[in-house]
Amino acid sequence: MKPVKVGLLGIGTVGSGVFEVLRRNQEEITRRAGRGIEISAVSRRDLEKARAIVGDAARVVADPRDIIRDPEIEIVVELIGGYDLARELVLEAIAAGKHVVTANKALLAVHGTEIFAAAQARGVMVAFEAAVAGGIPIIKSLREGLTANRIQWLAGIINGTTNFILSEMRDKGLDFDTVLKQAQALGYAEADPTFDIEGIDAAHKATLMSAMAFGVPVQFDRAYVEGITQLAAQDIRYAEMLGYRIKLLGISKRTPEGIELRVHPALIPAKRLIANVEGAMNAVVVQGDAVGTTLYYGKGAGSEPTASAVIADLVDIARLAGADASQRVPYLAFQQHALGDEVVLPMAQVVTSYYLRLRVADETGVLATVTRLLAEASISIDAVIQREADQVSGEGENQTDLIILTHETREGTMNEVLARIQALPAVKAPITRIRKEELA
Ligand code: NDP
Ligand code: HSE
Repeated sequence: MKPVKVGLLGIGTVGSGVFEVLRRNQEEITRRAGRGIEISAVSRRDLEKARAIVGDAARVVADPRDIIRDPEIEIVVELIGGYDLARELVLEAIAAGKHVVTANKALLAVHGTEIFAAAQARGVMVAFEAAVAGGIPIIKSLREGLTANRIQWLAGIINGTTNFILSEMRDKGLDFDTVLKQAQALGYAEADPTFDIEGIDAAHKATLMSAMAFGVPVQFDRAYVEGITQLAAQDIRYAEMLGYRIKLLGISKRTPEGIELRVHPALIPAKRLIANVEGAMNAVVVQGDAVGTTLYYGKGAGSEPTASAVIADLVDIARLAGADASQRVPYLAFQQHALGDEVVLPMAQVVTSYYLRLRVADETGVLATVTRLLAEASISIDAVIQREADQVSGEGENQTDLIILTHETREGTMNEVLARIQALPAVKAPITRIRKEELA
């Protein structure tokens, strides 16, 4: 059988990994796919850099549309990133009858509904294993391995850059900016690293997983997104004292009222496996009614781990390209016509527990007042510790830090009570609130 011809739009960190792994493991990949997979053309604006990677093994072009127009190319791999150009190119490739592979979670989280509809109408595949959690086959697990289950919730460390930053800050005491630069040099960070540190990249990925877990269209615009830029080192230390680790989590849950879809830093019990996922590693926990809890762990970013996922998609397409379109695995795990209409809940309706840190005047009765206000809102306290403020931060004479762990309550209720506590004269600084997830 003739090899399937592939064109790469973009050959940077991920594209060069795809080229190298296909070259190195060509023989085994062909034995698995049943036919060869040949990168016949690549595009990037800097032609010299592209040639330095592929040599004479593939045609090098500056205009990605030259690849889309090439009648010999059956699969177009979009590895440029971003929203606008990538959307245009992917839609043009679909219109030209090409199957598409992409690692671009931003594109699919925002424009997925349009792209999947176009692909369905044209009868082509759109595969995106690399878009979530890099080398971990989580898309395949959600779409195929867990297909018997009614999934109840999933939670993941799905951004390598922020996990790397949090790990290095905690272990080595390095500052935020130094570690972010390291993550950029290692090829983990997005072209715009605010996508990583503000939680946007994790929200793109959580959006895709949520759609596949619960059979709904992608709803990125309804996701709650909070990154790690406001996290203070002292909260990481206090969390440790209380037996927790702080991680940036992407969470999606099925509730009777609707779907929760949120990304934010969260305290997780240190004894949970996922709390011990360090560096650029990713992990996703999925809870299904039949299988129970499952955990997926591996490298979430980087050249070859991501290439591993892209090539898995290429092999799937090489095997299935001739099959009837109705026999393919649906893009979002559920048949397109069977996607549901459950909405993503506003954050005020989310139920979770909390870590609160209050800088207060070291006076009699302050703790009693704070706990009374929480009790009036029916918020139950799990643990309280009090630390001299200057023991930890070196500032704030006659002040103390109150750290309170609560049981579950509705976010809207917590917002109201925090406004009341913040208004107390004894509260000397903005209250820190970090959500706490038991992931039991
Ligand atoms: P890079 O920035 O390393 O590579 C992007 C490539 O696209 C470069 O070859 C660039 O070359 C080319 N490019 C950019 N703009 C254009 C343009 N206008 N026309 C033609 N080519 C263009 O990105 P990554 O490889 O890191 O990421 C690619 C995708 O993979 C992104 O969607 C990213 O989110 C995703 N991803 C990345 C991971 C990682 O670990 N890096 C992991 C998982 C997903 P030139 O500038 O010379 O044109
Ligand atoms: N910037 C992303 C990360 C790349 O750090 O996880 C992988 O999607």
